Amino acid sequence: MKSVLATAHSNIALVKYWGKRSDVDPVLNLPAVGSLSMTLDALWTETSLAPDRVDTFLLDGVVQSGAPATKVWSALDRLWASHHPGRRPYCRVTSSNRFPTAAGLASSASGFAALTMAASAAFELPHDRSALSAFARMGSGSAARSVFGGYVRLHAGERADGSDCVAVPLSTGSEAWPLALIVVQTTRGSKDVGSTEGMERSRLTAPYYAPWVESSPKDLDDAEAALKRRDLATLGEIVEHSCFKMHACMMASRPPILYWKPTTLAVIHEVWGLRSRNLAGYVTIDAGPHVKVLCAQENAEAIADHCRRVPGVEAVTICLPGPDATVHERPEGGIR
Ligand code: PMV
Repeated sequence: MKSVLATAHSNIALVKYWGKRSDVDPVLNLPAVGSLSMTLDALWTETSLAPDRVDTFLLDGVVQSGAPATKVWSALDRLWASHHPGRRPYCRVTSSNRFPTAAGLASSASGFAALTMAASAAFELPHDRSALSAFARMGSGSAARSVFGGYVRLHAGERADGSDCVAVPLSTGSEAWPLALIVVQTTRGSKDVGSTEGMERSRLTAPYYAPWVESSPKDLDDAEAALKRRDLATLGEIVEHSCFKMHACMMASRPPILYWKPTTLAVIHEVWGLRSRNLAGYVTIDAGPHVKVLCAQENAEAIADHCRRVPGVEAVTICLPGPDATVHERPEGGIR
C-alpha cells in the first residue's frame, strides 16, 4: 500500500435526511429519504493513511479505541475486500478536523469521506468517485455527499443492494451558485442523542415519520429546481420547511428528541427578524443545537454580525461552497 493524505470538506443538508431503510442489510446504511447539501469550504478533515505494524487511529492527536476505531477498521476492511483478496495491511490512520473550534460540529461527513478517499488511493482501488461515495455512506450517511464539492443530491434509491442510492453533484467549482452558509455555534460540547440512535427512535415511535418520508421527494425536486434557477426565496422556504419538519418528527418521537437550546431559538428569531427587514437568511438545524443560515454571499457579513451579537452565541463562521474531496500522495505519510 501507498502512503497518502486526503482532504474532504464537511457539508450541511439543505433538504434533510433522517431515517434509515429497515428492509435492507444495515451495513449498507441506506437512507429512507434522499438529501441535498452544500459542501463547505471552511470546515474540512485531513486524513493520512500509511502502512504500520498494527492498526492505529489518531483523531486530532488522540489515539482512539472502542467504537470510533472499530468503525474506521470496518470501513478499511470493506474497501480493501472490494478489490483485493486476503488480509488488509495494517494501517496508521491520522485524522485531523480543521474546524474553527471543536464544539460539537458534525465531523463524521468529512471524516468518512476523507478516510474513503485516502484508502482508495492507498490501496490502489479502481473505484470512481460515485462508488467511493457509496463506501463513505456506509460509515456515515452524510459522508456520501462530502465526496463531492458544491451542491450535491443524494438519491435514496429503491434497490435492496443500494446500487441506486447515489450522490450526484448538481454544480461544483466555479459553476456553483455563490451562496453562503453561516454556521452559528450556540453551545460547546457534543450532542446527547447520536443521529443513528435518534433516527431509529423516530422510525419506530414518531407518528410523523411516515409523512416525513412520503413528502421528502417533492422537497428534493423543488429544491433542486430552485437551485438550478438560482431562486433563493423558494430554496430558502424549502430549506426551512425540511428542517422544521425533521425536527417535528424528532420531537414527536418517544421519548422526545430535542436538540435545541435557548440560544438556538434566539438565533432563529434573530434571522427571521432580519428577513422581515430585507436581510434574507434561511435557517437549518441538524442533530444538534447549532443554527446554519443560508443567504446570498453579499449579505453574509451583515447577517453573521447580527448573529454574533445574540447572547449565548459561541462562534460564527461564514462558509462558501467547498471543493471536491481530494487525494494528495505523500510518500512519507502523516499530516503537516
Ligand atoms: O449520516 P449522519 O449520521 O451524519 O446523519 C445526518 C443527519 C442530519 O445531519 C440531521 C441530516 C443530514 O442530512 O445531514
